[in-house]
Amino acid sequence: MGIEMVDFKHMVWVSERAQYEAIDEIEDKDDVTILNISVPEMCRRLAEGLEIPEWFSFPEVVRELRRTKPPRSEQGFTVFFTGFSGSGKSTIANALMVKLMEMGGRPVTLLDGDIVRKNLSSELGFSKEHRDLNIRRIGYVASEITKNGGIAICAPIAPYATTRRAVREDVEAFGAFVEVHVATTIEECERRDRKGLYKLAREGKIKEFTGISDPYDVPLSPELSVETENVDVDNCAHQVLLKLENMGLITG
Ligand code: ADX
Repeated sequence: MGIEMVDFKHMVWVSERAQYEAIDEIEDKDDVTILNISVPEMCRRLAEGLEIPEWFSFPEVVRELRRTKPPRSEQGFTVFFTGFSGSGKSTIANALMVKLMEMGGRPVTLLDGDIVRKNLSSELGFSKEHRDLNIRRIGYVASEITKNGGIAICAPIAPYATTRRAVREDVEAFGAFVEVHVATTIEECERRDRKGLYKLAREGKIKEFTGISDPYDVPLSPELSVETENVDVDNCAHQVLLKLENMGLITG
């Protein structure tokens, strides 16, 4: 075709000569210090807020990159609790909210099941279609909060795995999604029956009640699963904090 290929040489930084050189043209390889940062490594350093040396890029460029892609500990994220009614989701979510607010830095918004039902989804019932709509609304708000650098804590039952997955995808376009299964058994929730709803469900006075007369898909691979029997609320919230720290979303 008359077009000649231009060979793209792999350039590396040679410390002793303070310049970039093509790796296969360096003759004294054993006597000099060769430095290089791959693209994935640069992304990792940006995500974790680690140093990017001056020989790799101009400080002005790095500053701009950091501004548009702050480290994970400064980005927004969503913690999504799921579990039966009365499993302890709201109590743990509230304790987590307090702890995150004490740490400061990012605004924290709690989207609790009952509160959302009162304010955002007041016209909805508990059919699959309505539950899905309710969860998708929560997911949309959480993804907006995440996009804008805030922390969203959601605590609905969210019984359907496919809907939880859809919300995960909405949020992950902008930041991390941390699914926490509050794994209190249905027997224990019914024994506690904090709101007296299980009794009504057994009597058939509430239809389509999750765990009694409506399905709940147990999360197969949540980021975290917490047991609430014989474990206090503070301990559960602490487990979530440790997970967030582990994922680099908060700094210890
Ligand atoms: S979800 O299925 O759409 O995620 P959500 O968390 O908003 O449910 O609301 C659950 C709360 O609504 C329960 O904690 C309970 O107080 C109340 N509730 C009323 N009817 C039902 C029902 N049929 N199934 C489950 N929860 C119900």
